Amino acid sequence: MSEPRADAAASAASNLRRPVLVVDFGAQYAQLIARRVRELDVYSEIVPNRLTATELAARRPAAIILSGGPKSVHVDGAPRLDPEVYELGVPILGICYGAQLIAHQLGGTVGRGLRGEYGRAHLTRTAESSLLHADVPAEHDVWMSHFDAITEVPDGFRATASTPDAPVAVLESDSRRIWGVQFHPEVVHSPHGMTVLRTFLHDLAGCEATWKMASVVDEQVAAIRARVGDQRAICALSGGVDSSVAAALVHRAIGHQLTCVYVDTGLMRKGESEQIVETYRRNMNLELIHVDAGDEYFEALRGVTDPEDKRKIIGERFIRIFEQHTGGLTEAAFLVQGTLYPDLIESGGADGTADVIKSHHNVGGLPEDMTLELIEPLRDLFKDEVRRLGTELGLPDEMVWRQPFPGPGLAVRIIGEVTPEKVATLQEADAIVREEIAWAGLDREIWQAFAVLADIRSVGVMGDERTYGHPIIIRAVTSDDAMTADWARLPYDLLEKMSNRITNEVVGINRVVYDITSKPPGTIEWE
Ligand code: XMP
Repeated sequence: MSEPRADAAASAASNLRRPVLVVDFGAQYAQLIARRVRELDVYSEIVPNRLTATELAARRPAAIILSGGPKSVHVDGAPRLDPEVYELGVPILGICYGAQLIAHQLGGTVGRGLRGEYGRAHLTRTAESSLLHADVPAEHDVWMSHFDAITEVPDGFRATASTPDAPVAVLESDSRRIWGVQFHPEVVHSPHGMTVLRTFLHDLAGCEATWKMASVVDEQVAAIRARVGDQRAICALSGGVDSSVAAALVHRAIGHQLTCVYVDTGLMRKGESEQIVETYRRNMNLELIHVDAGDEYFEALRGVTDPEDKRKIIGERFIRIFEQHTGGLTEAAFLVQGTLYPDLIESGGADGTADVIKSHHNVGGLPEDMTLELIEPLRDLFKDEVRRLGTELGLPDEMVWRQPFPGPGLAVRIIGEVTPEKVATLQEADAIVREEIAWAGLDREIWQAFAVLADIRSVGVMGDERTYGHPIIIRAVTSDDAMTADWARLPYDLLEKMSNRITNEVVGINRVVYDITSKPPGTIEWE
């Protein structure tokens, strides 16, 4: 790829982009807001709240949305917006904390110690409103999550709706082009939330609904080309949807400057490694190095039972093996990873503000002295968006609709020490679960369905003999984005078939149980 073409592509992409900037005030809502904006065909990006008005203006935003956040505006150290931002003339929508910040910073009052509202609340329109479109009923339910509440609007604003515990549930200033809502329009529990966002974006801020998934391809391709230049990149392939899509995207951008390394950890599902190698070479024509590292992994995992230790060991080795197998690619400067937004927030947040839940291998387990620079082209996206992107890139359904599979593989589905024998047992049981789900035609409805091998034994009877074997736990969940999930209501007949087949066909298993835990409180994986 010659330089001039890369430049042309970069400038074409930047012309497309007058982003809606979602200012992140430390809540998990920011990404959901950005995603809703994209669903309304408008390009959006998340930015940290410490940016100054000048820095924000430099990004030429079409509009600014201030997200919710966990703090009270009255608390010392609560995040603030540079007050100059209100003077930029860029249309602003504040949501929850964002709305309170508008009131607080522009001279209104945010009451403290009122009765908060958490969950559904009944909203009543109290005045003529620009934000609450005529199509939105004068009374409807909204989703609330606040303790403080706005009690007085700043000069030049009007209060246009209230709920029982939020006297100012909506505030508006058409002349200043600033609006705020105490409720969360981005969540599905606010049934008219999307209309509110659409009204703000399309009618009040005048954003054109022209952004499509194809734009992500153009933008990312341009950005990756510009960043990589004529250097080389290596892609950390795991075989899952995320790394396949990331690889395809980077491959589109830089072609043979990309080499993919597939580290076969020995912890993959049954037959998966063969399938991965075949698909990458056949469908994607990628330069692929296949490293058979199973023995090394089993050695490293010997005696290790702590879930976080397992993840750290696997993640660290993953990177080391890449470094070892770059062979003639000593000049490779970049490592491509299919990190998604949910991976990031569960590893402490894009900005390090959310609590760490698990250190996902492709984020938390990276050694500190890693010499490669990361390219993570999917880090703003949710899984379903990544699937759409994969299709847009021409990847086959078998790859795009593959269930998510954790980087540490079956190691986090084997409770206790990981051994080759346990992996073989789990592979057989897992293959049965997935086969039965596919035969029942439930592939796309079910987010993930898999087997877990527990480190306990129970007594059973087979034929005339007493057995003392291990149980297999079946985990099947429905989800939109893996941030929350519900256990799948699989038909009893299907469960029965799985149970019969597993106990009959998998040696050492004498009991099958079904996990009926949602997320939260459980996670999808067992470790
Ligand atoms: P949990 O278990 O945290 O999983 O509810 C959420 C989603 O993430 C997947 N997962 C991982 N993906 N590396 C990954 O690439 C990991 O270390 C990892 N751990 C969990 C999990 O399968 C589910 O889809």
